[in-house]
Amino acid sequence: MTTISRHCFGDDDSESESSSFCISIIENMKEEYGLFVWPCSVILAEYVWQHKQRFHGSTVLELGAGTSLPGLVAAKLGARVTLTDDSQRLQVLDNMRKVCDLNKLNCNVQGLTWGVWDSSIFNLHPTIILGADVLYDSNAFDNLFATVTFLLRKDPGSVFITSYHNRSGHHLIEFLMGKWGLKCLKLLDGFSFLPSEKASLISGNIQLAEIAVI
Ligand SMILES: C[S@@+](CC[C@H](N)C(=O)[O-])C[C@H]1O[C@@H](n2cnc3c(N)ncnc32)[C@H](O)[C@@H]1O
Repeated sequence: MTTISRHCFGDDDSESESSSFCISIIENMKEEYGLFVWPCSVILAEYVWQHKQRFHGSTVLELGAGTSLPGLVAAKLGARVTLTDDSQRLQVLDNMRKVCDLNKLNCNVQGLTWGVWDSSIFNLHPTIILGADVLYDSNAFDNLFATVTFLLRKDPGSVFITSYHNRSGHHLIEFLMGKWGLKCLKLLDGFSFLPSEKASLISGNIQLAEIAVI
């Protein structure tokens, strides 16, 4: 079943404040990967909103964007945004385009499969890479880190901001960062900055990390 959810950002959840806004997302309630707003996405989107000065005028790439809430918030804040997901998942990519249209946001939408180097990845020069709940299948971690490292090395000042379920401690992520020559700049409990009305709707042990090249 398809439904539309609304996600608001601002002091009082109203659009009367000039800086406040809401994003509408088309979701498939079967909780299919990429067609559902996962809790990590709510947390990363809130983090983007709370760091709005950083995003205004920046070049943002969202990996495994699915319904794309964090990237859409960045676009609303004045970032140039490219939303990506697995090149094979045409339904997800199509939904991303529909969600951009629904919110009247002009984002670039393209397929980008982790660990695959087709021509389009060479044209990307993000200063901020976003990834919500992209660290859920350990078999895909190396491909994801390979893509992230390739993109971060293009611009040493760039950063990967990711939110993920901390299922087995931070150790595996730490190991992969060492393996790929990356370092953690910041590690936060995802609920530490989430407004209580949003925190009450989601659960889990979710962390947010900012990662850069050493
Ligand atoms: C758990 S969902 C998270 C979706 C969205 N970021 C969110 O938090 O709501 C994982 C996303 O990663 C995408 N994905 C999985 N494997 C991928 C791969 N190898 N390359 C690119 N995207 C991939 C899926 O299509 C899906 O959209």
